[in-house]
Amino acid sequence: MPDKPKYYLTTPIYYTNGLPHIGHTYSTIVCDTIRRYKRMRGFDVVMTTGTDEHGVNVERSAQKAGIPESEYVAKMAAEWRKLWDELGLQADEFVRTTDLKHAHTVQWLFKLCRENGFIYPGHYTGQYCIYDNAYVDVKPGEPCPDCGRPTETVTEANFYFKLSAFQKPLLDFYKKNPNFIQPEARRNEILSFVEGGLRDLSITRTSIRWGIPVPGEEKHVFYVWFDALSAYLTAVGGPNYAQRGYWPADLHLVGKEIIRFHAVYWPAFLMAAMLPLPKQIWAHGWLLMDSSKMSKSKGNVVRPRPIVDVLGMDALRYYLLRETVFGQDGNFSYDALIQRYNSDLANGLGNLASRTAALIEKFFAAKIPKPDAFAPQDEALAKETQSAIAEVLEHYETLKYSHALEKIWSVISAADRYLTSEQPWAGGNSDAEQERRAAVLWTTAELLRVVISLTHPVLPDCTAKVWTVLGQPGKISAQDLGGLSWGQLAPGTALEKSQPLFPRIDKKEAQERMEAMENEEQNAASPVAAITSAGAATSGTSVTSAATAAAASPATTGAGAAAATPAASEKITIDDFTKVEMRVGQIKTAERIVGADKLLKLTVDIGTEIRQICAGIAQFYEPEKLIGRKVAVVVNLAPRKLRGVESNGMIVAAAVGPDGRPVLAGFPDEDVEVGARLR
Ligand code: MSP
Repeated sequence: MPDKPKYYLTTPIYYTNGLPHIGHTYSTIVCDTIRRYKRMRGFDVVMTTGTDEHGVNVERSAQKAGIPESEYVAKMAAEWRKLWDELGLQADEFVRTTDLKHAHTVQWLFKLCRENGFIYPGHYTGQYCIYDNAYVDVKPGEPCPDCGRPTETVTEANFYFKLSAFQKPLLDFYKKNPNFIQPEARRNEILSFVEGGLRDLSITRTSIRWGIPVPGEEKHVFYVWFDALSAYLTAVGGPNYAQRGYWPADLHLVGKEIIRFHAVYWPAFLMAAMLPLPKQIWAHGWLLMDSSKMSKSKGNVVRPRPIVDVLGMDALRYYLLRETVFGQDGNFSYDALIQRYNSDLANGLGNLASRTAALIEKFFAAKIPKPDAFAPQDEALAKETQSAIAEVLEHYETLKYSHALEKIWSVISAADRYLTSEQPWAGGNSDAEQERRAAVLWTTAELLRVVISLTHPVLPDCTAKVWTVLGQPGKISAQDLGGLSWGQLAPGTALEKSQPLFPRIDKKEAQERMEAMENEEQNAASPVAAITSAGAATSGTSVTSAATAAAASPATTGAGAAAATPAASEKITIDDFTKVEMRVGQIKTAERIVGADKLLKLTVDIGTEIRQICAGIAQFYEPEKLIGRKVAVVVNLAPRKLRGVESNGMIVAAAVGPDGRPVLAGFPDEDVEVGARLR
């Protein structure tokens, strides 16, 4: 047997100062889909993911958590790894940039670049965005042009990388390899950036402690991007990459905001070290929430776990790959997610699978029937399915997932129409009728076999189940997609019992469950709260969580507040307390929210502005009676959405009784000024 061709692909190496949201999950799902697809095309695939653990951000987060950086990153990396495992996103390699073997790769790469004359010492002063870990081209005092957050002026001794020497080699390389940067729009963006001239790049820092030391230059540590990009090499052998044979990478898949690092800096570093260059960089678009990029700092992130718990991982995978045209931005919405679940998965694939299995069970004692003669409509469906195979594979090759799934689902719809018009359940049991029924059900079962084989890379779980129900041999993942063609379903194969794949779900209830879980996760998702023990949790988080639970959902008040409230022996400092800004507010309007029994939408005057705030008090307070009432409001809470309605602040309530009935905190005896601060 000749060796299988190798295929190496990577996700970005994610920062550890937060936990994964569905934006990160999206990139990892796409890579996981490619990995499964390539395996089904006969490749020996390695997929790498990992965590980017150095830099100022981590230094600060660890300080905030009151633990050493190494402990902080170890816990965070474990969370990332655990989540990917639980979601069935199993990369073959997981690199942590704090691994010793990774330090060797970075130092080796630096040495090669230096020996080849592309590194020199200097000084640098510039505006640095610590959130993006990048110097940015703005004046002192101006915010980061990418993320809008404050920049800092940094002057330091450093080593420069002679990026300017690579303008022509890079442009030549892009020209010779027109598919190196995908999609086209990103390629054009990079071409004009490089054509505009390249400045040398500072690649070490003396201002940072938490990083990989530069060999022989102990005060310097590596700039995080020189460090992080090298992780792609570490995963497949580092300095010994040639032995494993996976380098150069076939594909680095990244979000569009980090294309420059991958398509300009990374190939330049590799050219300087005289190492082979990756074959392709694919930059996908962003998942947006309310038209802006999902990000922790904006407080508009959606976590994968609630979705997966309520609808299953296949549903999340399907939604993300079907709904967004790969490469473009896509808006996330629970509404569209549940809609897709019910229409395409429950009514579409799930229904076709259960109908087919039930009919074969009923009329053919659960054995695939043997067709004797086909009618033109059977042949037409066979032809349509056969031609879909080539089209879908072509879409997979070019990462056009929405097109691929659209095509597959058009075949599923054709099968539905076919069954509806052929009605194999109707009629009697005469030989002629059984014969016709055999042809129809064999055709439908064969279509199902082809459809699940094609869909497997995207929906691994449900397709594996249908594969078993159809009594097919071996694992579906071991099928050769290149050899997939119509007509291979063996009559006589015994079916196995089927379970409903995607039970239909009530939209309102599903959304409520996901949002409630999401809110709980949001409270727990601060890295500090997530990784420090209850005793070490910062009191700022505890105070906020207790109040959130009270205001957001009385049902969760008891558990939420209890879990987040510091133990009696714990003390907080006044600094901790003053982090929570509470003010007197006056309710101006109050109304119920359609579809959310527990929530009221309020507008509240807080002295400086009128805020919209949602409060989980609808079951206990009549909206009309609240108008004019003065309440305590937490005003510096990150905005978030409750049942799709933005809530910008929080009303403080006591949780009373065993079920945590909310009672609004107020000022009944004195006339307090609106906007006064509570201290
Ligand atoms: N550590 C760097 C990457 C170094 S790679 C050598 C980094 N990390 S990150 O944690 O910020 O991850 C960024 C990546 O996560 C994006 O490039 C993208 O792949 C994914 N996404 C994060 N938010 C996203 C969306 N809102 N939408 C889609 N993808 C998103 O940058």
